Amino acid sequence: MPESSALEVKNLTVHFSRTFGFLGRLGRTTKAVEDVSFEMGELDVVCLVGESGSGKTTLGRCIAALTHPTSGEILYRGVNVAKLRGGALRNYRKEVQMVFQDPFASLNPRQNIYAILSTPLRKLTGLTGPAKLYEESVSLLTDVGLQEDVIHKLPHQLSGGERQRVSIARALASRPKVLIADEPVSMLDASLRLNFLALFSRLRTERNMSILLITHDLATAKVMGGRTAVMYLGKLVEIGPTSEILARPHHPYAELLLESTPRMKGEPTVGEGTTIEKSERVTKGCVYRPRCKYATSICAETEPPLEEKTHSHLVACHNWLNRPEPKAVTVS
Ligand SMILES: Nc1ncnc2c1ncn2[C@@H]1O[C@H](COP(=O)(O)OP(=O)(O)OP(=O)(O)O)[C@@H](O)[C@H]1O
Ligand code: SF4
Ligand SMILES: [Mg+2]
Repeated sequence: MPESSALEVKNLTVHFSRTFGFLGRLGRTTKAVEDVSFEMGELDVVCLVGESGSGKTTLGRCIAALTHPTSGEILYRGVNVAKLRGGALRNYRKEVQMVFQDPFASLNPRQNIYAILSTPLRKLTGLTGPAKLYEESVSLLTDVGLQEDVIHKLPHQLSGGERQRVSIARALASRPKVLIADEPVSMLDASLRLNFLALFSRLRTERNMSILLITHDLATAKVMGGRTAVMYLGKLVEIGPTSEILARPHHPYAELLLESTPRMKGEPTVGEGTTIEKSERVTKGCVYRPRCKYATSICAETEPPLEEKTHSHLVACHNWLNRPEPKAVTVS
């Protein structure tokens, strides 16, 4: 756990409701995020890991103040983000930025890169004057490893990797203190992934940022280090130092993720993640029970709370100690 928290997520819940049928009488609720709590310190790295649909993006969007939570709260330096208005909210958006999951969809296809970068520079930092805006835009491009000549191009004229670098540059324009990067390497060739993760690590140090990196595989978390938070069907089921989770995952789902992670020994790449059977929701007991090979009778009755089991390592499992040592999996 961080010594001092910059960001505290407290009991965050997000339900999406959809009505249909005659007069909208039928409804369906998706429980995207369920009672999630964790903290991030200054200069912290937290990797949020989980399979598709586990609520990672929704949680990231709430932290970036782009999605309203159904309940719970996010405190930034002790202040409730939901209560921020006007200049204070603008300031928060400046300090907490998000790099979106799909860089192509998030860049306006009709704007050239100069327009894409100069707009947040003008709006969020108050920088004015074409010369200064141009100079700062070039500086952002250089910071993310792009050449100046990219500045007059449109997004479709760039490669996937270049577009991702532009997305990162745009998020950096306001000099954020917290960067939320949503699956920043999943759409890139394996050969580029390590370069990008190294870029995030460098930017974090140079710009004194905390990074919340969303990913579906533990191999990416291994490269980033820091702490790892594992989500399953909207719930946080384990959070602790990445090195500990890789060496000895406490939660059976984290163990499955680890077993499904491609080995990285000697390979200059990070893996493709895991394809796991479709998740099934339960109404009572442990959310992971339908897939858990260690389930016992208590798991069907009582939901396990997320509790500290070893120092700074929290897990939501009744049987985390009473199961065999997981198969040794090398991800190093
Ligand atoms: N705006 C929305 N309206 C309705 N349902 C939504 C909305 N956004 C997300 N969901 C649902 O919430 C759940 C969590 O979605 P989310 O995108 O946060 O998952 P994710 O972990 O980021 O998945 P992926 O790895 O595929 O990006 C999913 O069931 C999704 O369909
Ligand atoms: S609480 Fe029970 S069902 Fe849930 S993960 Fe632990 S052992 Fe499996
Ligand atoms: Mg997502």
